Amino acid sequence: MERPFMFLVFLFFLSPQIQASLSHLTRDHFPPAFLFGAGTSSLQVEGAAQEDGKKPSIEETFPDGIRGSDKLKVAADQYHKYKEDVKLMHEMGLDAYRFSIAWSRLIPDGRGAVNPLGLKYYNSLLDELHSHGIAAHVTLYHFDLPQSLQDEYGGWVDRRIIEDFTAYAEVCFREFGDRVVAWSTFNEPNFFTLAGYDVGLAAPYRCSIPSFFNCSEGNSSVDGYLTAHNVLLSHANAVQLYRERYQPKQGGSIGLSLMSPWFLPATNSSKDVAATQRVVDFQFGWFMDPLVHGDYPLIMRRIVGSRLPTFGEKESKLLKSSIDFIGLNHYTIFYVHDDLGNWDMNQTDYITDVHARVSFPGVSPFEEKGEQESFPSAMSDLLEYFKQSYKDVTIFIHENGLALPHGNTPPSLESGDDDPRVQYLQGYLDALLTSIRNGSNVEGYFVWSFVDCFEFAAGKAFGLYYVDFEDANFERYPTPSSIWYSNFLHGKEGSKVKRHVYQTELSSYI
Ligand SMILES: *[C@@H]1O[C@H](CO)[C@@H](O)[C@H](O)[C@H]1NC(C)=O
Ligand SMILES: *[C@@H]1O[C@H](CO)[C@@H](O)[C@H](O)[C@H]1NC(C)=O
Ligand SMILES: *[C@@H]1O[C@H](CO)[C@@H](O)[C@H](O)[C@H]1NC(C)=O
Ligand SMILES: *[C@@H]1O[C@H](CO)[C@@H](O)[C@H](O)[C@H]1NC(C)=O
Ligand SMILES: *[C@@H]1O[C@H](CO)[C@@H](O)[C@H](O)[C@H]1NC(C)=O
Repeated sequence: MERPFMFLVFLFFLSPQIQASLSHLTRDHFPPAFLFGAGTSSLQVEGAAQEDGKKPSIEETFPDGIRGSDKLKVAADQYHKYKEDVKLMHEMGLDAYRFSIAWSRLIPDGRGAVNPLGLKYYNSLLDELHSHGIAAHVTLYHFDLPQSLQDEYGGWVDRRIIEDFTAYAEVCFREFGDRVVAWSTFNEPNFFTLAGYDVGLAAPYRCSIPSFFNCSEGNSSVDGYLTAHNVLLSHANAVQLYRERYQPKQGGSIGLSLMSPWFLPATNSSKDVAATQRVVDFQFGWFMDPLVHGDYPLIMRRIVGSRLPTFGEKESKLLKSSIDFIGLNHYTIFYVHDDLGNWDMNQTDYITDVHARVSFPGVSPFEEKGEQESFPSAMSDLLEYFKQSYKDVTIFIHENGLALPHGNTPPSLESGDDDPRVQYLQGYLDALLTSIRNGSNVEGYFVWSFVDCFEFAAGKAFGLYYVDFEDANFERYPTPSSIWYSNFLHGKEGSKVKRHVYQTELSSYI
């Protein structure tokens, strides 16, 4: 998970009022075919960063950023512990596991020779999942571009990436597709293009003014839009290939996953309300409109003008209806303000185009020390928005979860340390059920994350399983959240943690 730290400073803080009792929520309340799972990404969970022929991705090479961290090299060591992890998933009662393939493990140079040990690893993981009856939701790209492609032509800024991505995708479809029920071509392209090529706070750390970050290269005025454009065309090409050659016999589905907070105006002023609509169009419409209708939203074309690349007729046709589903990674809300804070207006970029900043209802996301707040009704608002705007598109909640401080010992039921996460999961599953009953076409829900992962917010973790990172064996321990989720999945009442209903002034549906 990755928060959109683009623009900052929190505004206000609404604590949930703790109240009595939901009726016993279990999976039996959901449609029978609904998938419940948990997820990770290769970068954050595999480790073995320099083993068995894997070469670095752009996430692993930045010299002094957190991503150069030694912790990233071992992460949660799933590369060596996948069998144990799949057994834990099975015991927990998961229907599905969402993970990503590391491009530079499978094709170390980004293009060309396939690494047989990379192939073997993902085959073994998929076989293990398959033999335990766990469905695989697989992401092709989760922020980890092979460094060699970045070095050769700047990665996503160059159209050559379309051919290389499509060739990589084809290896995955051909070799793994018989055991994959859903492919996401990209994870959070509405985050990594902006953060990596405009704001300059994520790999490959490119930017220019007006970003206040210091990057050695980049052009914030155009590169966010350009990289997103190349990502969309790469998606469309890979989907065409999958639909023509693999989908008919393999029967999986294909889509992509967006960073999907819900946005609320910071005040009721007409300016903040209008800014909120712009943010929604720029964050969701930027990808959804091309994927569903074949072109960027009118408002983006109008505001961004010639800096927004255009689709040719054939490209537009290829993009239109190029998703079988959309994955939504939803954690929290942001408040939208119709102003730019300290952002320099002398140059234009995505941020000045949107002309808004968002604030986080907790603490400045830059400082990463506050509690993430829980606003389950916002998930219902998000789902309603997608239902109405994109013709009942099929949705998976691909990420939802709560980061808590990662202590030296696993959280226990007695300590209560894990209670906020149990309450969080209950609240969101309840909101999800409300939306499904009101006609949202959601087919699955994945907790982020299955085990504690390498997280960009140091000192915090999302895992259903606690991982002892100091232990040479990276021992896993069940948390109260994992016990609660497992009980929920087995149709039992859940753990003994008190049941809460969240009621904030934002919530009207409960
Ligand atoms: C950018 O560099 C300037 C001058 O070296 C420094 O004062 C400033 O703090 C840096 N900004 C960031 C965000 O690192
Ligand atoms: C960024 O690219 C635009 C369009 O090509 C150009 O006008 C502008 O000068 C460039 N800015 C920087 C900082 O290189
Ligand atoms: C906006 O207006 C509504 C209805 O009048 C009110 O309930 C809400 O508190 C207001 N929100 C803000 C942020 O002022
Ligand atoms: C932006 O432009 C204003 C007015 O021309 C100038 O005073 C200011 O120094 C500029 N800011 C930067 C960061 O260049
Ligand atoms: C339920 O769905 C209808 C039709 O989309 C919509 O008008 C209504 O606002 C939804 N209710 C809630 C509480 O989201």
